[in-house]
Amino acid sequence: MFTTVDNISSVRASLVVALLSTVLLLLWKTYYKFIQLGNRIPGIGVWNLAFGLMNQMPKDGPHVGLLGFLMNFVNSHEGEPCRIWLLNELCVILTKPKDIEVVLGNVKIFKKSGHYAMMKRLMGQGLFTADDFAVWRRHRKIITPTLHFNILKDFVPIFYKQATKLANKTKDKEQVNIFSAVGLCTLDSICNTAMGINIFAQDSDNNTFLQDFYSILKVWHTRMTNPWIMLDLMFNVSRYREIHDNAADRMKYFTNEILHLKRDKYGVNKSGVTVRSESRSTAFLDMMLTCWSEHGLSDTELKDEIITLILAGQETTATVNSFALIMLAYHQNIQLKVQEELDSIFEQWRENDCPSFEDLQKMNYLEMVIKETLRLFPALPIIGRALNEDLQVNNVTSPAGSTVGVFLYGTHRDPDLYPSPNDFNPDNFLPERQSKRSNYSFVPFGAGIRNCIGQKYAMVQMKTILSTLLRRYRVSPGSGSPPLDNLQLMITSSLKPKHKINLSFTPRR
Ligand code: HEM
Ligand SMILES: *[C@@H]1O[C@H](CO)[C@@H](O)[C@H](O)[C@H]1NC(C)=O
Ligand SMILES: *[C@@H]1O[C@H](CO)[C@@H](O)[C@H](O)[C@H]1NC(C)=O
Ligand SMILES: *[C@@H]1O[C@H](CO)[C@@H](O)[C@H](O)[C@H]1NC(C)=O
Ligand SMILES: *[C@@H]1O[C@H](CO)[C@@H](O)[C@H](O)[C@H]1NC(C)=O
Ligand SMILES: *[C@@H]1O[C@H](CO)[C@@H](O)[C@H](O)[C@H]1NC(C)=O
Ligand SMILES: *[C@@H]1O[C@H](CO)[C@@H](O)[C@H](O)[C@H]1NC(C)=O
Ligand SMILES: *[C@@H]1O[C@H](CO)[C@@H](O)[C@H](O)[C@H]1NC(C)=O
Repeated sequence: MFTTVDNISSVRASLVVALLSTVLLLLWKTYYKFIQLGNRIPGIGVWNLAFGLMNQMPKDGPHVGLLGFLMNFVNSHEGEPCRIWLLNELCVILTKPKDIEVVLGNVKIFKKSGHYAMMKRLMGQGLFTADDFAVWRRHRKIITPTLHFNILKDFVPIFYKQATKLANKTKDKEQVNIFSAVGLCTLDSICNTAMGINIFAQDSDNNTFLQDFYSILKVWHTRMTNPWIMLDLMFNVSRYREIHDNAADRMKYFTNEILHLKRDKYGVNKSGVTVRSESRSTAFLDMMLTCWSEHGLSDTELKDEIITLILAGQETTATVNSFALIMLAYHQNIQLKVQEELDSIFEQWRENDCPSFEDLQKMNYLEMVIKETLRLFPALPIIGRALNEDLQVNNVTSPAGSTVGVFLYGTHRDPDLYPSPNDFNPDNFLPERQSKRSNYSFVPFGAGIRNCIGQKYAMVQMKTILSTLLRRYRVSPGSGSPPLDNLQLMITSSLKPKHKINLSFTPRR
């Protein structure tokens, strides 16, 4: 009898051992394959990084910090796929249009890379950070119609009013900190159009919402450039957590308040019955509350989406509007051409006239200027995806479990695609030149299923703000601003110049 028990337990033991070793073998095989495939891609590895990465982040030159590192790195591999081992994480960097297409054009590659995870603390399952396909698709279906061009038409007067406010503030000013001034204007614009309320950011010098937002961006930047704090475990015990969470809580509280006010206004109760209000505004939130009551979003989902739209729409458009003004300040001949076009659209001097949607459509040259700005200064210089399956890109295989970084900043400055790639030249976007290039040679809004949902919104907003300023003022570099060839760029969540830049606004007449 005892022997039987012994037999059984030894059989059990050997079964367990067999099972364990199979699992280990399988794990090792997958991991081994992962390492092997990764190592076949040209690039740099663990030790270079652990001990030398900081030395490879340029402190000077046209590209500073992480941006400079990435630029040097892809250039030394001639833009072909190249990899970085970040400890056990494999990241493959792509810049060539045909390589980018393989990733962004593939509908099965949906999941964002791990670097987006830190944003989830604030944006939850909002579109930008969502990683559940079914949730994302449902939300995207609900939000897409709120950005329909009929609705964008209604937004023009809102953008115009905020742009006028900015114009009033910059009148005759010799030293306007351009990113700060424009940032307040785009914040007011986005809050107006997202929540249907005015937060008067432009009317005070310290708006708490914007300050909270900036302190969160700072924490994200610190985490991105500091691998230790990137780890949740370390972050949770660091002082950054408190800074982040305090700011995030205030932003969420604020959004919640607005949401409740709106719920009351429209009488949308828990069972989803809507009492339509006559004075319905076209703000995203109002649209989502009134058009989608039955299959609509829960309060948490709505809050995530509103915060996402504000975050994704404020900083990006502030960056591009500011860089456009900076470029025009440094290129007076191009600015004059923009103003000639504007003068021909607004025949008489109509300082206080809001442009019509049709007026905006006529601003072809300004649109080329904006596109050229998006080329040289894409607000999001790199985007990332996580691979669930092995992916063949060009002549390398990026294994399942690795991260792909689409370094679109590098694409936009590839001399094979754009002659003199670092010069500001709106003629790059003459229709005949544009049609000669691959669609994936210009991807400031990403591409494929997770492309930017706000790109039309962004165009309308930027045209309105820029035309309003340029109709009135001649913009020039403020005294003390660096010469153009000393404009140092870096990544701080979005793309920014290293030094603050002042512009001067002189009335044209
Ligand atoms: C010049 C301005 C803008 C630029 C350069 C820009 C750029 C981008 C890029 C590159 C992506 C893709 C990110 C990725 O693939 O990981 C993206 C996604 C997104 N953008 Fe924009 N964006 C701009 C303006 C806006 C505006 C105004 C809004 C909202 C009104 C917005 C809302 C979003 C959202 C919600 C997503 C996530 C879409 C999804 O995953 O389904 N963006 N944007
Ligand atoms: C801008 O200034 C003009 C003239 O001073 C004024 O009529 C207008 O109301 C101001 N606009 C805004 C939005 O403050
Ligand atoms: C700016 O914010 C600080 C702290 O929140 C506050 O003490 C100060 O009074 C504010 N200043 C203005 C001009 O609103
Ligand atoms: C860190 O904190 C967040 C939010 O409080 C929590 O969801 C997460 O599980 C924590 N992570 C670790 C590793 O402690
Ligand atoms: C929602 O509102 C409708 C119409 O006003 C009402 O009949 C229904 O009882 C309400 N449901 C809840 C849960 O309050
Ligand atoms: C892929 O091709 C490029 C250039 O054509 C070459 O430099 C690189 O070594 C090749 N990579 C592999 C893994 O064969
Ligand atoms: C490029 O984009 C245009 C407009 O979206 C589309 O009509 C065209 O088919 C695309 N070309 C390629 C090669 O994908
Ligand atoms: C920008 O303007 C501010 C005043 O608005 C001034 O204090 C600062 O020195 C200026 N910066 C440069 C680089 O000229």
